[in-house]
Amino acid sequence: MSTIPQPPKREGGTPITKRLTPRDIQARKGGAPIVCITAHSAPMAGFLDPHVDLLLVGDSLGMMVYGLDTTVGVSLDMMIAHGKAVVRGSARACVIVDLPFGAYQASPVDAFKAAARVMSETGCAGVKLEGGAVMASTVEYLVSRGIPVMGHIGLTPQSVNVLGGFRVQGKSNDEARVLVADAKLLANAGAFSIVVEGTVEPVAREITKAAAVPTIGIGASAQCDGQVIVAEDILGLYSAFMPKFAKRYALLGDEVSKAVASYAADVRARRFPGLENTYGAAPATPAKKSKKR
Ligand code: KIV
Repeated sequence: MSTIPQPPKREGGTPITKRLTPRDIQARKGGAPIVCITAHSAPMAGFLDPHVDLLLVGDSLGMMVYGLDTTVGVSLDMMIAHGKAVVRGSARACVIVDLPFGAYQASPVDAFKAAARVMSETGCAGVKLEGGAVMASTVEYLVSRGIPVMGHIGLTPQSVNVLGGFRVQGKSNDEARVLVADAKLLANAGAFSIVVEGTVEPVAREITKAAAVPTIGIGASAQCDGQVIVAEDILGLYSAFMPKFAKRYALLGDEVSKAVASYAADVRARRFPGLENTYGAAPATPAKKSKKR
């Protein structure tokens, strides 16, 4: 049996631990750094949950789980399936689920319908959506109807086709001004926190100073109120691309490869399964003594 950590449960199945809420996260502005990491499955959520404040079911699952090149092909059903798994596998962290491309941009009503499905079907605490000024009225619409929203500005991967690639943001004065204004608008609209992705340090610092809610950086320096990272990037489980902003804390992909090579060698040499892995194995028959002539 594997040893996947399970959240503590009451009789009847409800988790014992009190989860952090979006309000708890919002209250951490300017305080102890907020720790956030992506999770896409129940077992992984179980491993990550005791160590972090926020679990983000990011649409990066398009690349990390489904082998897509970008997040543009991720569907609402995918996000809901993985959101449910992460909520089931965790007990303490605040779980936020990304709204995928196409589910919220057309209108606040579309956004509400998508977010309401995500909230009611997964049991998560809130949703994240990408975009600054253009999304402020949608954020206000959702928050005023009971849906906690995390914003996401800077490098917004769902807009990769108009950004012309994954380009670091905030390098010009104009870009910097727009980003600071975006952050203020999202905070005023009621976002409980804002992810700032792929943004140069001075601008991340400006945004963090200007926004009344916590900023959570990814590739946006240590100036933010917290950090988020894609779990596979720091665990060595995704080799197609290694972003500059990620640090490798483990090489689990290499460990998987070594372990499976050993398994394959054991099967081929008939060393696996051994007696200890076998049900009802017949006792070994002692070899008969051959009579001497
Ligand atoms: O999808 C994701 O993993 C994200 C993080 C990069 C913030 O949105």
